[in-house]
Amino acid sequence: MAELSIKNINKRFGETEVLKGVSLDIADGEFVSLVGPSGCGKSTLLRIIAGLEAQSSGDIRIDGRSVGGRRAADRNLSMVFQSYALYPHLSVGENIAVPLKMRRMNGLQRLPVLGGLIPGQANKSAEISAEVAQAAQMLEISHLLDRKPGQLSGGQRQRVALGRALVRDPAAFLLDEPLSNLDAKLRVQTRAEIAQLHRRLDATFIYVTHDQVEAMTMSDRIAVMMGGRILQCATPETVYDDPDRVEVAEFIGSPKINLLPVELRETGQVDLFGKALDLTTTRRARGVASLGLRPEALFLAAEGAPIRGRITHRENLGSEMFIQIEVAGLEPRVTFRAGPEKRASLEIGSMVDLDFDTAKALVFDATGARVRDVSPTRVSKAEVA
Ligand SMILES: Nc1ncnc2c1ncn2[C@@H]1O[C@H](COP(=O)(O)OP(=O)(O)OP(=O)(O)O)[C@@H](O)[C@H]1O
Ligand SMILES: [Mg+2]
Repeated sequence: MAELSIKNINKRFGETEVLKGVSLDIADGEFVSLVGPSGCGKSTLLRIIAGLEAQSSGDIRIDGRSVGGRRAADRNLSMVFQSYALYPHLSVGENIAVPLKMRRMNGLQRLPVLGGLIPGQANKSAEISAEVAQAAQMLEISHLLDRKPGQLSGGQRQRVALGRALVRDPAAFLLDEPLSNLDAKLRVQTRAEIAQLHRRLDATFIYVTHDQVEAMTMSDRIAVMMGGRILQCATPETVYDDPDRVEVAEFIGSPKINLLPVELRETGQVDLFGKALDLTTTRRARGVASLGLRPEALFLAAEGAPIRGRITHRENLGSEMFIQIEVAGLEPRVTFRAGPEKRASLEIGSMVDLDFDTAKALVFDATGARVRDVSPTRVSKAEVA
């Protein structure tokens, strides 16, 4: 198993700069997800780590040694692709055995008939069969070993691809959106299985996805990528509760974080819709900024609370509800969470007043950077009302 160090990777395709100085250190046994919108460079970065693509500059180290000159086959990394890339004419067992045969047998030995006549061959074949059987058992596909990929479901194919990655006993697993071809239910199930597999193997995983829920549920750390850069790499809790930038706050979390326009005054006062909030900032920066409030940071309050709007939509998930309100002068609607017991009082069309938990308020300056020295003031509007 291995630790990986990615140092200042740049990548251009002709004129287009796809990766702009990406650095990331991954500890031995860690599960790190790369998340970000389509086209931000996730697959490119993974392919560079795997050695399938060359970087324009920068260095990749595995266990402290640069792999710059090493081909993909010599990096001892297993990659699982979104498309699974199985050989259609080989059985499941043969597909899983491919990397073992490639490594342990020469070209002649790999020939189906002639290979069998070579001395010592039977031993090797038996060894390989045993390892294939073990991987199949781990992934619960033992009963499928004789089938062809065409006779399998998407989830089963995905497991075969994982099995093939598994038998190589790699230094690290690189997975590129391995669940994106599965239906919603199977994704949730397979997600849990991959997380379990990671715990059991204690191996290093780098997992690419554009699905933030996948990343949140599986990872030790999440690297949020945008426009060829890693904006933040931290635990799921940190990227959710304590994002460094507004783009990270917006990408992580569902429903999305609410962003309200605020003004930072010279006095430290933070104004929303021209009225002071129960927040102060000591920062010299002034002017327009935005206040990020997750749906669960908002709560129903008495009239006079900072946010007032009309309910336009109600999403009842059973255990909780997400309510959208239209606030005068504000473009996107504001979403807040409410318990199902509030159902009767939250009719579509009615007006509500909302206050927020000041400890959960996230302020971002005009450039999108987090303003960290924000503190709640004592007197809160909700208490006065
Ligand atoms: N071989 C290539 N030649 C030119 N441009 C490329 C090449 N491969 C990728 N790109 C460009 O690089 C950018 C990043 O692509 P990449 O596949 O890494 O994105 P991604 O984050 O994996 O996106 P997705 O979530 O859609 O898979 C894209 O704008 C893409 O068009
Ligand atoms: Mg991709």
